Amino acid sequence: MKILIVGNKGQLGQDLMAQAQLRGWDTTGADLPECDITHAASVRQTLAAGDFDSVINAAAYTAVDAAESNPDLAFAVNRDGVAVLALACRDANLPLIHVSTDYVFDGLTTTPYLPSDPIGPQGVYGRSKAEGEAVLQQHWHRHAIVRTSWLFGLHGPNFVKTMLRLAGERETLRIVDDQWGCPTYAGDLASALLDIAAYFRHHSDGWGTYHFCNRTATTWYDFTRRILALAAGYDQFTVKEIMPITTSEYPLPAPRPAYSVLDCGSLEERFGIVRRSWEPALVDMLKKYYK
Ligand SMILES: NC(=O)c1ccc[n+]([C@@H]2O[C@H](COP(=O)([O-])OP(=O)(O)OC[C@H]3O[C@@H](n4cnc5c(N)ncnc54)[C@H](OP(=O)(O)O)[C@@H]3O)[C@@H](O)[C@H]2O)c1
Repeated sequence: MKILIVGNKGQLGQDLMAQAQLRGWDTTGADLPECDITHAASVRQTLAAGDFDSVINAAAYTAVDAAESNPDLAFAVNRDGVAVLALACRDANLPLIHVSTDYVFDGLTTTPYLPSDPIGPQGVYGRSKAEGEAVLQQHWHRHAIVRTSWLFGLHGPNFVKTMLRLAGERETLRIVDDQWGCPTYAGDLASALLDIAAYFRHHSDGWGTYHFCNRTATTWYDFTRRILALAAGYDQFTVKEIMPITTSEYPLPAPRPAYSVLDCGSLEERFGIVRRSWEPALVDMLKKYYK
């Protein structure tokens, strides 16, 4: 299997690279500055350099709050960059597995979102990702869009690493307790994306939109309590109190969906992927993080 991971230096991209190599796959990474998905020539050059079986796009503009004041860059990468990739994959007849987000939903529900549910992004980042999905659907049918949520892992900045740092600096943490979602371990998502790439090597069906997150819905507050309880076995923290607060008590530039639990049934069924809960995944991450 010969695979191209676009955005290989990011949080998810690094796990994709490591796991594809562990599977013994011929693995190539592409990221800024050498490969810029907003520049067609650089993408086409990257694709021409290898005889790939599949492409996974983990590249994105992911600064959710900064996107509110920088919509041009968010749309350039998350919509126009995806169009460039889609057209290049179409011309090379390559399946494109593209990662999207729970932020395409408005969060005004209380039951898990199906991939077919209507979207309603609230902020610039969510809109730019939603339009990225649309251009991919428009330009190239041999694709899988995999929406995920609340990514955490060993690489890059993420919520778990921020909580571990703040718990060592502060006495009180005030954490939002009225947003519901499913934390997702980047390593588990990487494994699922590679399973999908492997599926497409031998099947000519299964194109479409899917969801992948770890099992078990939680709030940021409850997630934080578990992170710090599990990390207490490794670390000494200054924090004495974790306080639940509401979203309105912690205003941010970009709105977040209040509920973004994703129904992953169609992905499990189609690709035979088994999902675990985020808690054992968090245990795995902390073991590696403190090693
Ligand atoms: N993080 C989350 O909680 C979360 C939740 C749901 C969905 N997702 C989705 O999951 C995917 C992976 O997220 P992540 O957390 O791994 O993101 P990340 O750590 O920000 O990684 C994204 C990578 O893409 C690169 N990139 C940015 N613009 C590019 C361009 N024009 N051309 C080529 N590469 C470019 C980035 O480079 P620079 O760092 O140099 O900009 C970075 O290496 C994204 O599609 C994201 O929307 C993330």
